[in-house]
Amino acid sequence: MASSALDLLVLTFNCAKKIIDVPVFADHMHNAFKDNATGLPDLIALSLQEVAPMSYSFIGGYFLEPYLSAFEDAINEAAIRIEPPSSNTSPSVPKQGSKKPYTLVRSHNVGYTATLLLARDASTIRQVQQAEVGFGAADMGNKGAVGLRVLYDAGQGETELTFVATHLAAMEWNLPRRNANWAAIMRGLTFDDPEAVVERFRTEVGVPEEREEQGERTRLLHDEHDEQHLRLQRRIHDISVFKPSSHLFVAGDLNYRISTTSPPPNAGFPSLDSESENFYPKFIPLDQLTRERKAGRTMHGLQEAEVKFPPTYKYDVKADSGAKEEELEWSFAPHRWPSWTDRVLYLDVPAWVSGKNNEQKPAMDVLAYNAMPIVRFSDHRAVYLRVSVPLISPSELAPPLALEGSETAPDGFSADPRVKLPMEVDPEAWGRRAAARKKEAMAGWSMLLLGTKEGAAVLATVVLVGVGAYLWRRGF
Ligand SMILES: *[C@@H]1O[C@H](CO)[C@@H](O)[C@H](O)[C@H]1NC(C)=O
Repeated sequence: MASSALDLLVLTFNCAKKIIDVPVFADHMHNAFKDNATGLPDLIALSLQEVAPMSYSFIGGYFLEPYLSAFEDAINEAAIRIEPPSSNTSPSVPKQGSKKPYTLVRSHNVGYTATLLLARDASTIRQVQQAEVGFGAADMGNKGAVGLRVLYDAGQGETELTFVATHLAAMEWNLPRRNANWAAIMRGLTFDDPEAVVERFRTEVGVPEEREEQGERTRLLHDEHDEQHLRLQRRIHDISVFKPSSHLFVAGDLNYRISTTSPPPNAGFPSLDSESENFYPKFIPLDQLTRERKAGRTMHGLQEAEVKFPPTYKYDVKADSGAKEEELEWSFAPHRWPSWTDRVLYLDVPAWVSGKNNEQKPAMDVLAYNAMPIVRFSDHRAVYLRVSVPLISPSELAPPLALEGSETAPDGFSADPRVKLPMEVDPEAWGRRAAARKKEAMAGWSMLLLGTKEGAAVLATVVLVGVGAYLWRRGF
């Protein structure tokens, strides 16, 4: 198995705008590494939400750096305990003592939401691409998603990987908004500018100017049976989250709850006590995410390993109890239903991939799906998935060409988002994002310089932009 699979750990954590306590997080990471596995994962993908105060997140760069590098430090501290630097002092081998176990391949953020990809060996990673979308106020990134797409090749065959880190709308009653946020990801999280892709394609096939004026370009996009249309569709599919040749992992504070209303006073909350009549597994059937996913209203085509951990939100930890980390005093916050907000999902190996030479069909082999312990520095618990990912090459993973655009594909094929996008990509995704990015910078700097409250600054920016647009339309 080891030679034909990649050992991956995907972790999601809502940081509550604080820097993590590095030694504490390193301890938890160390235990996560040992959870039903030996050795260290080849790759670690992090999805972080509320990664820093809003002004720092919106400005990014230098302001965000300390928040992100704390994770790198904690992971390396934990990794060194699993695989201490070799004491091999043979003169022919260069001294490795100072080398960190993990190298940061790329980090990227949209507002509050960040992603980091770390590798044991950075030379196994090629063709790093990134994507972003905001779906907070005025498309800003107080809520949003970031994506990374890479080609992994450790010499035993290459495989393509896409990681999406996201933070969806909060609050019990916001269920439709969360589903809409996911739709915004499917429409707007693109790894290239859709308009540029269409433009390049148009130039390539040589659509003449006068035909374009007669609406040829629109026809290219809409005529279902046009051969060229299928080819263009394929290009658009390739820049979407559901690139047919890539594995996909979606991790985040997805914010799905176990009720659509806030809890009444003295509600019977899920309990972590296995003796209690409210022991938490009883509440798992109420989880909105699994219900909505199975009804086809969110996380289209994605799978999740069985949830066996307690709700990961919302914890009230007694701030100044001088207790050791494992003896923290806590309770669930009374005004929120404790819920499984923090999750990691993935696309399974598709139906058309079979095993070579009588070998078993390759599969995602989940080693662990678990929550980290309660911490002082957040109201969420981190959740990680450790999975052995089969090294299926991009050309083997993509559906056979015959399936594409086919309405009569066999069951289980046509429902696969690698065959047909569940939702069309927004051609103006990149333009919208660029505009929102400017507003973020404006809001970020005004918060920082004027010391305004976060909410007030966002509101002020939205109002200013709104008034500006109104005046512009009125011809001022
Ligand atoms: C431990 O890993 C094996 C694969 O090596 C897997 O089949 C099993 O389900 C895992 N156990 C748990 C508790 O997740």
